[in-house]
Amino acid sequence: MPDTQSLLFIGLMSGTSLDGVDGVLASFPMDGSADAISTLSAAYVPFPAALRSDLMALQAAGENEIHREALAANALVRHYADCVRHLLEQAKLGPEAVCAIGAHGQTIRHRPELGYTRQTNNPALLAELIGIDVVADLRSRDIAAQGQGAPLVPAFHHAIFGKPGETRVVANIGGIGNISVLHADGSVIGFDTGPGNVLMDAWILQQQGKAYDENGAWAASGKPFVPLLDALRDEHFFALPAPKSTGRDLFRPAWLAEKLASFPDLAAADVQASLAALTASTLADAITNYAPEAKAVYVCGGGAYNACLMRMIGQELHARGHGAGVETTASLGVPPNHVEALAFAWLAYRFTCRQPGNLPAVTGAKGLRILGALYPAN
Ligand SMILES: Nc1ncnc2c1ncn2[C@@H]1O[C@H](COP(=O)(O)OP(=O)(O)O)[C@@H](O)[C@H]1O
Ligand SMILES: [Mg+2]
Repeated sequence: MPDTQSLLFIGLMSGTSLDGVDGVLASFPMDGSADAISTLSAAYVPFPAALRSDLMALQAAGENEIHREALAANALVRHYADCVRHLLEQAKLGPEAVCAIGAHGQTIRHRPELGYTRQTNNPALLAELIGIDVVADLRSRDIAAQGQGAPLVPAFHHAIFGKPGETRVVANIGGIGNISVLHADGSVIGFDTGPGNVLMDAWILQQQGKAYDENGAWAASGKPFVPLLDALRDEHFFALPAPKSTGRDLFRPAWLAEKLASFPDLAAADVQASLAALTASTLADAITNYAPEAKAVYVCGGGAYNACLMRMIGQELHARGHGAGVETTASLGVPPNHVEALAFAWLAYRFTCRQPGNLPAVTGAKGLRILGALYPAN
């Protein structure tokens, strides 16, 4: 059991992969010391195909969006509530033990240049179903302060994984890949590097009807085809300087189909290998350009469970003369699939302490801001 000097928070994260919701229940010390954060339970609730396709459809303009969005938010939150129930059961705790839930919601539109971002969610329903305070809408305030509202995780990575005197890279490989560079002097940069798993997921779904390439076995059975890899890498986004962010708007199946049109005879497994190489090589470029002195790269997110991808990242760094070792965040004490959910528990904790959650150097906001809006349980 946590001591009285700690507060318990839950983090719920569902990302661009649209695979499901990851949750953690963790204890945070009141004195703000991040090294004493400990996870009491973790849970994952996959989304059924219907919710996944409803959420996918909301990524682009369509008929009667407001109605469809509201219904999808309700369905989403029922899965969030299931995840919370699993977390409480495992930890043998009741809802009254938990201070608040940080609930990210599902991003359906992200247009910071127009002054908005939308994570569909129904935090009022979650508070009603579970009886715990909910902190939601964690990105809007940063955008209101002229930031990108993303990425938010580098602040947490800095708090929990930063080590003075040592430059570390945390690479989160979800649907999209992003890195946090935690510099030896305490400064932080963070940005999206391009596709993480999203194109590999789309290709194996199209070719084999599977949601993802377990352990990267299919990619490992093929060979990256250099002319295709070159064509994939010939995308303006990769040449842009950081900070930058991207999503499904750009790296969608139609983008891939256009690139593949010139290579109609290529074996499907070689396409998968080329897509893994795209993720690995663009990550390695970003790390080489922005963290040449890093000694280690710590991978988190679902991509950490793809052995082929992990191997390729090491090879691509080596090919660029970069000496960093590639590990997962498990070697820093946090399993790769807990990191993002833990970040949203941390953001709920920061909100509760009325402490800022953003890093202006990362998001471009005018200053530090307290992120989120509270939906009290009682
Ligand atoms: N065992 C595994 N082998 C290969 N890939 C995996 C494995 N587990 C998860 N993944 C990949 O990770 C993705 C989910 O990663 P996640 O970190 O949840 O991303 P997001 O934040 O975008 O939801 C899956 O869609 C899949 O591509
Ligand atoms: Mg996910």
